[in-house]
Amino acid sequence: MTEPHQPPPSREAILLVGGKGTRLRPLTVNTPKPMVPAAGVPFLTHQLARARAAGIEHIVLATSYLAEVFEPYFGDGSALGLELEYVTEIEPLGTGGAIRNVAHRLRSGPDDPVLIFNGDILTGLDIRALISAHGAAGADVSLHLTRVEDPRAYGLVPTDPDGRVTAFLEKPQTPEEIVTDQINAGAYVFNRSVIDTIPAGRPVSVERETFPGLLADGAHLHGMVDSTYWLDLGTPQAFVRGSADLVLGRAPSPAVPGRRGERLVLDSAEVAADAKLMGGTVIGAGARVGAGARIDGSTVLDGAVVEPGARIRDSLVGAGARVGARTVLDGVVVGDGAVVGADNELRAGARVWCGAEIPAAAVRFSSDE
Ligand code: GTP
Repeated sequence: MTEPHQPPPSREAILLVGGKGTRLRPLTVNTPKPMVPAAGVPFLTHQLARARAAGIEHIVLATSYLAEVFEPYFGDGSALGLELEYVTEIEPLGTGGAIRNVAHRLRSGPDDPVLIFNGDILTGLDIRALISAHGAAGADVSLHLTRVEDPRAYGLVPTDPDGRVTAFLEKPQTPEEIVTDQINAGAYVFNRSVIDTIPAGRPVSVERETFPGLLADGAHLHGMVDSTYWLDLGTPQAFVRGSADLVLGRAPSPAVPGRRGERLVLDSAEVAADAKLMGGTVIGAGARVGAGARIDGSTVLDGAVVEPGARIRDSLVGAGARVGARTVLDGVVVGDGAVVGADNELRAGARVWCGAEIPAAAVRFSSDE
């Protein structure tokens, strides 16, 4: 008896890392989103390490915005046991255009599966299972789908009982349009030959053009629902949450530099003995935290200073920034090199731009503190 034909396991991946990351500004003013540190290392490190652990060996990074910073950091990838290549778009080509633009660097044959993933997703997805499900279904393209409680903010991807994708629906406007809670989770397996059908040399959205077009042409698109940890790190609040979840061990990654727990303090950071760090807080290299400061579920990047008595929650303090004594930050991003003077109170989505200076006692959200 002969074994049924199984496609070879995917050993290649494309990683999309060229977006402008506008929702994450000002974090992405100087740094592309995948290079913003999460749990002490550029976020991309976690994705690369997870791909390697799933057996991927060769990854092509599709870069565009601030493209020049990736290669000096990751080099040829050998430190991570990977072979990395970089392809930079002259003009941003969108998600589908970026995939097509790197196709000439792939070594897979036409029927081989190629893993593709967005550079801003933190997930516990079983990558091997997605690749096997793709092979077992005999699909042209497979998508990781995740279930969300409130699907209104997402495009929906309903499937039939066999997992075959039946439609790609725009964000639902009415309750009747919420036909499923399954959304595109940003990781795909494409047969190599399908990548070659994406038009070259012009912007293409894989979500809005390639997937609906393939479906209309009768291609077999398979959806694999995997409801493990999943977070799109596109907004500051999500980014800070993701970093904290990595430190706490709620989100899986082989690349967290240190033990999982309430805090991660990088080498050469100085933290006062009575400062309280909790909820997955990260203190970056060379950063200083003063006496009595209390930092919960937050990220303080390299070289930043938190002065005595400051209280910081669910916030990100950029590289080299300074938070003054007794200042309160809750759900705030302080850009690189910015200074928030003493006795301020910033809350709920405030974004202090890189290099900006807020004088002492200038902003409050309450009168009584
Ligand atoms: P926002 O501007 O905040 O929406 O973020 P973004 O620019 O990252 O866009 P989005 O979250 O839709 O992108 C999904 C993934 O595709 C991310 O990993 C991006 O880096 C990547 N991406 C988006 N547009 C491009 C592009 O034109 N070229 C390349 N190479 N990657 C892209």
